[in-house]
Amino acid sequence: FAQDDSLSLITETPAEGFELAVTLSQRGVATTQTDPEVRKSLRGAYAQDADSLINVSQVIAIHFQTIAAANDYWRE
Ligand code: HEM
Repeated sequence: FAQDDSLSLITETPAEGFELAVTLSQRGVATTQTDPEVRKSLRGAYAQDADSLINVSQVIAIHFQTIAAANDYWRE
C-alpha cells in the first residue's frame, strides 16, 4: 500500500481524489489487520466475492465523498 505520511485531503483533480480514497480505504484495512501475511491470505476471498467487492467500492465511495467535500468539489 502507498505509505505517504504527508497525506493531505487536497488533490488537484477528481481522479487524484479517487486514488486517494482508494489509498485511505486500504490503509484502514492495514491499520486493523497489521499482519501482511494475513492480508495476503484473505485477498483471494474478497477478490472473488461480488458482495465483498461491492463493500470495498462503498468504503472507497465514502472516503471519496469526504475528499470531494474537502476540495469544494473541485469548483474553479
Ligand atoms: C490488493 C483495494 C480490502 C488485501 C488490492 C488492490 C486494490 C485493493 C485496488 C489491487 C491493487 C494492488 O495490488 O495494489 C482494497 C480496498 C479494500 C481492500 C479498497 C477495502 C476497503 C482488503 C482486505 C484485505 C486486502 C480486507 C485482506 C485482509 C489485499 C492484498 C492485496 C490487495 C494482500 C495485494 C494482492 C496482490 O498483490 O497479489 N486491494 N482492498 N484488501 N488487497 Fe485489498
